[in-house]
Amino acid sequence: MNQHSKARPDNGLPKTVESTLPSNWYLDEKIFRIERENIFHKEWVCVGREEEYPDKGAHKVLDVMGESIIVVRNGEGEIKAFYNVCRHRGARICPTNDQEANENSNNRVPVRGGVRPNGKIMCPYHAWTYDLNGNLLSAPHMSEEMGFKVEEYGLHPVGVGCWGGFVFLNLSPETAPDFEEYVKEVDERLVRYPMEELRTGKHIRYEVNANWKVICENYNECYHCGPVHPELCQVVPAFRENGATDLDWDRGIPHREGADTFTKTGTSPRRSFPGLNEDEQTRHKGELLYPNIFLSIAREHVVAFVLHPKACGHTIIDCYFLFETYEMEKTEFDPSDVVDFWHLVNRQDWGICERVQEGMKARVHDVGIFSPMEDWNLDIRRYVSDRIEALVEEV
Ligand code: FES
Ligand SMILES: [Fe+2]
Repeated sequence: MNQHSKARPDNGLPKTVESTLPSNWYLDEKIFRIERENIFHKEWVCVGREEEYPDKGAHKVLDVMGESIIVVRNGEGEIKAFYNVCRHRGARICPTNDQEANENSNNRVPVRGGVRPNGKIMCPYHAWTYDLNGNLLSAPHMSEEMGFKVEEYGLHPVGVGCWGGFVFLNLSPETAPDFEEYVKEVDERLVRYPMEELRTGKHIRYEVNANWKVICENYNECYHCGPVHPELCQVVPAFRENGATDLDWDRGIPHREGADTFTKTGTSPRRSFPGLNEDEQTRHKGELLYPNIFLSIAREHVVAFVLHPKACGHTIIDCYFLFETYEMEKTEFDPSDVVDFWHLVNRQDWGICERVQEGMKARVHDVGIFSPMEDWNLDIRRYVSDRIEALVEEV
């Protein structure tokens, strides 16, 4: 797919042959660790949908690039997030999925604690108890007389921002970039789409054996659409015309005559989102918010891809198929026209990304080059280089 998040410079085509990042940036675990610490632990990262936290106390324990994080809705209706570590002696407050599986297989006796039905977060070890804003409420047998101040021992906070119904976290809230600024451009471009009101009609989790940047680069160009996505090109012939160089993503991508959405038939019985302009009712849009969320936007559904890089050559992708509740509440609601079509396109994409990941290991392949229509790839190259280039040189 070919999506972007920034205005295209002049005519959009690079004037010279441009190199990709060196191959070892996609293959070396040391570089992956540098990216984890200097990109994913510092920037805003998407972790899913707000609807996953429907009411007070609703929570999840997430692995965000190797850090266990509690995400919870507090009594005021806001989403809060904290490192899943007790301020007393560092116990995990809520079990992670892995931990739970380990404890079960090692025949451990379950411990109490975690986010309790009474709206408190209790450590299972010595019962230090926190509220849903992370404040320490009580620490048994610790007192002010001994110089202990509860207000100094709240849970380590994680930054939270919500946009378009998505939850974003920042693991270094003290140095986090401004969240409003981060989402400003995408918010302006999608101003007529009811992103926040959409709900998940279907969720698919994919395991992809490819580096996260390979997946970004693939999403960022449509040079591959002709060879890899014949069915998609039936619906959007422009993807295979002239190597997809003439696509105007700002205005939206036109479908073939008689088609207006991304399904096998190019049509859907669902209504268009109310309030879209004329182009938006017939054209397709795409967005990419680095480092880890892609949006593919039709007149009546949105598909969101949230990347969770797990290792240098392994990425989990959560794919959310989003619809209006107006449609989802109908008894005849059936998302399979969208889901089946995308599931095919997705598997084509993940398969080809895995081929790239494998191919780059060849001892003769040090670096690739971008073709003219892949100019948006320069975006991810710049995004990553700006943040880690100096550190990679030290490795
Ligand atoms: S480690 Fe949490 S209460 Fe002791
Ligand atoms: Fe693709």
